[in-house]
Amino acid sequence: MRLIIEPDYLSLSRWAANYVAAKINAANPTPEKPFKLGCPTGSSPLGLYKGLIELYKKGQVSFENVITFNMDEYVGLPEDHPESYHSFMWKNFFSHINIKKENVHILNGNAEDLRKECAEYEKAIQEAGGIDLFMGGIGPDGHIAFNEPGSSLTSRTRIKDLTSDTIIANSRFFNYDLDLVPRTALTVGVGTVMDAKEVLIVCNGHNKARALQAAIEGGVSQMWTISALQMHQHAIIVCDETACDELKVSTYRYFKDIEKDNL
Ligand code: GLP
Repeated sequence: MRLIIEPDYLSLSRWAANYVAAKINAANPTPEKPFKLGCPTGSSPLGLYKGLIELYKKGQVSFENVITFNMDEYVGLPEDHPESYHSFMWKNFFSHINIKKENVHILNGNAEDLRKECAEYEKAIQEAGGIDLFMGGIGPDGHIAFNEPGSSLTSRTRIKDLTSDTIIANSRFFNYDLDLVPRTALTVGVGTVMDAKEVLIVCNGHNKARALQAAIEGGVSQMWTISALQMHQHAIIVCDETACDELKVSTYRYFKDIEKDNL
């Protein structure tokens, strides 16, 4: 796994945006051979989306032949609720770029048959030929998408109960009212993310330091589902300095040293 340590949130977001744009451009996508991008929500990727929007506006990347698959969605929250992940994605990314509506895939947390919805989502990813690059964030407890601690590291898209930690963390989007936070979500599995050709995670701030430490220095464990990335051939975490607060000095220096000449 690569760990890119940038000085602050702005520079890590720029690094990630440039990386994603470069990957899309290198693939030279066409309608017959689109680029398949996995998309996260949360506050961590906001800077990355802003960076991609800027690159798009400067004409340095196009999303015309990009197909997206989002990581997750709350169950039971109306699609037009301001905190639904549908609303998040259109507000913060899709409505600012030239993506085609039909190329956007987000799990429907209001589907009548949630299990069927999850199975069809997996099928849609497969039929598209798999995900080229899955972008993501990390929950403070080390979860990826909504794969809470204890999730199988080979899990696929499914319904997941949210832990108290996540409900508390996400209550900031619901006026800090725990009762307003949905209790369940649909999420791609750890296995779904692991099947992507590449995974790029953004991680910033001191409150992610324990999760980053577990991801990099800990063993592979279902209790820190992000740690599954240690088994991925092409995984990158790009973080800021404060997210490194729990890393050993030697780990920090090692990654600084090996990455110093890279993009
Ligand atoms: C939610 C999302 C995750 C995200 C996490 C961290 O739980 N399902 O995909 O990584 O929040 O969010 P933030 O970036 O706001 O800290």
